[in-house]
Amino acid sequence: MNIDTLRNDFPLLQKTGDERLVYFDNAATALKPSHVIEAMNAYYLDYPANPGRGEYDLVYRADQAVQAARGKVAQFIHADVHEIVFTSGTTMGINLVADAFVRKHLKKGDEILITESEHAANVLPWYVLQERYGIVVKIIALDAQQRLTPALLKEAITPQSRFLAFSDVSNVLGTKSDTLTLTKIAHDHGLWVLLDAAQSAPHFPIDVHQSDVDFLVFSGHKLCGPTGIGVLYAKRTHLEAMDPYFMGGGMSLKYAKDFSIRLAPIPERFEAGTQPVAEIIGLGAAIDYLQHIGWDFIHQQEKILRQRALVGLKKIPFVKVYNPDAEAGIITFNLEGVFPQDAATHYNAHHIAIRSGQHCARNLTDYLQTDGTLRWSCYFYNTEEEVDLFLEATKKGQDFLDAFFR
Ligand code: ALA
Repeated sequence: MNIDTLRNDFPLLQKTGDERLVYFDNAATALKPSHVIEAMNAYYLDYPANPGRGEYDLVYRADQAVQAARGKVAQFIHADVHEIVFTSGTTMGINLVADAFVRKHLKKGDEILITESEHAANVLPWYVLQERYGIVVKIIALDAQQRLTPALLKEAITPQSRFLAFSDVSNVLGTKSDTLTLTKIAHDHGLWVLLDAAQSAPHFPIDVHQSDVDFLVFSGHKLCGPTGIGVLYAKRTHLEAMDPYFMGGGMSLKYAKDFSIRLAPIPERFEAGTQPVAEIIGLGAAIDYLQHIGWDFIHQQEKILRQRALVGLKKIPFVKVYNPDAEAGIITFNLEGVFPQDAATHYNAHHIAIRSGQHCARNLTDYLQTDGTLRWSCYFYNTEEEVDLFLEATKKGQDFLDAFFR
């Protein structure tokens, strides 16, 4: 795989001069290759029909495109097509599980376990269950190595524990969970497991059969796909046990004036209303694209870039790195004496995009002992030259304040 050729696939990476952008905010969202944009355009230009609603060629074509995308997602995570529900993203997937499964199966006093590094999507839906229904949310503190360990999980589980929800990769710490072991422990104690794969699906292969998680969620936009589309995987038996969340066209086979409803089979039962067809097709194209790039190249590139950035940052005396030992291409850091938001503005002046703040993971502030950080996150299309530009800008990260106050 040639990095220069590959970068030609991304229109944003072709910009030059003042328009050139060094993009290191990939944990927030990834750039989109032309293949994805063209696949979506083709739908709008050539067959913009409503799948499953009509008996003419355009409808068949749109329907086939949606089913093909579902098949690609299923194959991508080693699931069955009937276990793939399209959602608007990770957030909707977790809300759906919280409301349609957990609320139904847990009662007052039962416990949901999460960790202190979860982002808002894997925190707030559970808080609401606590507030409204008395289900108890327990937040497990990480160990000194920034991880939920098997021992910490075992210690947290009580006879009341029923559900565990954790991220495969933390969006701030970049640590990869030992998902297989944690899931096995949870199952041995009778807990259901939801894996938040928002940050892992773009960077690591997912195999739901091997991990045996009950539920898994991720978003399309972090793996080079469009926004507004995501995936909920649930074991078939769980989907069958869930009540539909949205009611409307496409999720029933029949209803009548006697108020009876015959539900559509899974997964359509959970996909009421016209779906974001272009986005579903775009997600399928993004998966094709990632598979064309290949995990080997993705891993190799991210490792090289992270290592180069880390070594460079460590040489700058006023830089504090919070997660030197992470597996994912994420570095969380601060410039001593500079508010992260100010520093991000400084990088922006150098046409470098990185995120600042709490990164939607507000329960981590005590652990990190800071109210905010900068977050550098790479993807396979970034280059070593871009890392060097980032490091050069970092070196000037305190000067810019001096200049400001002079
Ligand atoms: N959860 C996304 C992030 O980490 C938005 O930036």
